[in-house]
Amino acid sequence: MTELKRNADGRALTESEQEARQKEYIEKAARALSVIEQAHGRALKSSVVTFGCQMNARDSEKLRGILAAVGFEDTEDELDADFILYNTCTVRENADQHVYGRLGRLTGLKKKRPDLLVGMCGCMMQEEHVVRKIRRSYPVVDLIFGTHNLFTFPELLYRILTERKKVIELWEGTDVIVENLPVRRKNSFKSGVNIMFGCNNFCSYCIVPYVRGRERSRKPDDILSEIRQLSADGVKEIMLLGQNVNSYGKTLENKMSFAELLEKAAEIPGIERIRFMTSHPKDLSQDLIDVIARTPKICRHFHLPVQSGSTEILRRMNRHYTREDYMRLVDRIRSAVPDISLTTDLIVGFPGETEENFLDTLSLVEEAGFDSAFTFIYSPRTGTPAAVMENQIPEDVVHERFNRLLAAVKESGEKQSGRFTGRTMDVLVEEQNREEGYVSGRLSQNIVVHLPGTKEDIGSILPVRLVECKGFYYFGERV
Ligand code: SAH
Ligand code: SF4
Ligand code: F3S
Repeated sequence: MTELKRNADGRALTESEQEARQKEYIEKAARALSVIEQAHGRALKSSVVTFGCQMNARDSEKLRGILAAVGFEDTEDELDADFILYNTCTVRENADQHVYGRLGRLTGLKKKRPDLLVGMCGCMMQEEHVVRKIRRSYPVVDLIFGTHNLFTFPELLYRILTERKKVIELWEGTDVIVENLPVRRKNSFKSGVNIMFGCNNFCSYCIVPYVRGRERSRKPDDILSEIRQLSADGVKEIMLLGQNVNSYGKTLENKMSFAELLEKAAEIPGIERIRFMTSHPKDLSQDLIDVIARTPKICRHFHLPVQSGSTEILRRMNRHYTREDYMRLVDRIRSAVPDISLTTDLIVGFPGETEENFLDTLSLVEEAGFDSAFTFIYSPRTGTPAAVMENQIPEDVVHERFNRLLAAVKESGEKQSGRFTGRTMDVLVEEQNREEGYVSGRLSQNIVVHLPGTKEDIGSILPVRLVECKGFYYFGERV
């Protein structure tokens, strides 16, 4: 399954050889780009469009870093770019459909601007049927690569700049984690940090293990030195990223648990807030809860996807915990960290979900007291066990349940909201508000607060009195 990148004499490249090779290609691509720019008489622009999760957003920062190192000017407006790269997601069918729609638009654009280059990467590209469809129906696409060979982007970029013909390179898997390629962060004050890649859990509905490959943890030293560097660059908040951070370290030669990693990260001066995403309930340890409780820098927000409140559905989802296990975790987290804000992911309409199973989900939402939840309609993904399960739920039933679930989540959120009114709490200011003279930021609990302020406040952590709660956000006053 695993295929390592081989060089000309057929030898598999090590991680550091691969790093050196890609850095060389950044130089070569830069020279190729400047020749093209001279011919055009202007600088060329690139735009990376991200679909999907935080992991993809972080990958896009790496892609942007490489494009910037090669000499492309970054633009947010894809219609203004000479090279458009779609970093895709395939977790649900509507993610795929959205991308196809946008590709259709680009087809029209390329008719007007034949020099336009279009690239596609990310999770969708790891599915054979998707690549087949793109090759057949979307000739507008010049470059295709996948999640496993993202770090070979410099080499692939060089090839499309010089060869001017379609480049398609997809790997089935990889063992290598290539470090130290350029990154361009979206925000100056916060950053994602990958701690692991892939997923081994094979929840029966989920495509991620198939498109992201097996679980691999980065070495603690690489992670911690990246965080130190981020801190030196002025970053105050980091988010440790993995599909199941609670199983961090299991693939390492020198084992380290996620709780230990968190504790070490919290020792780094300058880093004021640490978040993490995502936690799988089956691997959540008491050690982790204890570390959070005694480390104020770790944010008081726990995103703990439950997916369903029915033990029977959870079993068929291959989640490896029961409703009761989940509720015990919630109790343990709340008693150790009383100020925690708890959020979750929920799926409705999993194959065979009965009204009774669904009512279990509704009652769990009420019992757990979530601050908010992402709610999803089950979407069959080709190749996953759930897609071929009998008893797929009719659309009208699913929609009706989905609306009831939304109402339950809203009610739970409303019960939680307002509990900090009157308190003075730290807000990390993230952006200017649309309202003149206001800025918006977040509590450690990840709850949004609007307060008077200016652009200069962005990236500062300010004590703010929470004056009024407006549903899911607060208005605050600086103290
Ligand atoms: N690794 C994370 C989830 C990543 S995917 C975890 O296990 O918590 C984010 C969310 O998308 C999942 O939690 C799930 O709620 C939802 N999801 C995944 N596959 C789905 C599918 N086939 N249909 C509907 N929702 C899905
Ligand atoms: Fe998907 Fe489950 Fe892995 Fe999360 S833990 S990415 S839901 S297989
Ligand atoms: Fe989507 Fe891939 Fe993330 S499928 S949710 S972008 S891991």
